[in-house]
Amino acid sequence: MEPDAEADNEADNKTTLEAAKFLPTSYDLETSEQTLAHYEAWAATYDAEIGDENRYAQPERCAAALRATATGPDARILDVGCGSGLSGVALADAGWTAIDGCDLSPAMLALAAETGVYTELLEADLNAGLDLPDAAYDAATAVGVFSFGHIQPAALRDVLRVVRPGGAVVVGLNDHYWDEGAMPAELDAIEAEGLATVTDRQHGEHLPGAGIEGWVVTLTKAGGGA
Ligand SMILES: C[S@@+](CC[C@H](N)C(=O)[O-])C[C@H]1O[C@@H](n2cnc3c(N)ncnc32)[C@H](O)[C@@H]1O
Repeated sequence: MEPDAEADNEADNKTTLEAAKFLPTSYDLETSEQTLAHYEAWAATYDAEIGDENRYAQPERCAAALRATATGPDARILDVGCGSGLSGVALADAGWTAIDGCDLSPAMLALAAETGVYTELLEADLNAGLDLPDAAYDAATAVGVFSFGHIQPAALRDVLRVVRPGGAVVVGLNDHYWDEGAMPAELDAIEAEGLATVTDRQHGEHLPGAGIEGWVVTLTKAGGGA
């Protein structure tokens, strides 16, 4: 190849690699339509960019938070916004075997199916409500899914609805979204209404490779007795 052509080729490859990065625009999403398109395009490289390159810490942190609750090894768990399955794999690594997942993006769900850790996978827009019965699960996790243009804080009520009284819900989210204020306000409202109690809250790593930290919040649904 001529030197000029080789330089052009290298520049093209570099542009292609740079264009494949999706994390920088993840916090600019505003609507479910934008978010769906974002994850449909990102699915093939999500695990590499988030898990490998940026050392995504929230799946393990959330699984550890769930282990600190009374959620036994036979518990039925719903992984809300399961994505490609990084959060479900962390639950499976922590010992749970009855894990279902739901997500907006068919491409992400297809990858989640390949992990082999989910019993059932359901396509669902959490902002429109979950087509699942009340108290169907012993616990739920929502890892990296409450965010700008993603699942809105009010959807936490529907997540609580499908968990049995006394069951745990673990939410992992980044500082950008926490600091925006709608999520802490919703948690305060949920507690004030007696729907659930925040039983633990830990600050720590979210995406250490990108210097982003975040919260892991554990709620216990009301009505489980003493
Ligand atoms: C950052 S990924 C997290 C995926 C997985 N929980 C993890 O920890 O790797 C966010 C996921 O939320 C999903 N999502 C965004 N908005 C949603 C909505 N309204 N309903 C259901 N899932 C949604 C996206 O499709 C994406 O798979």
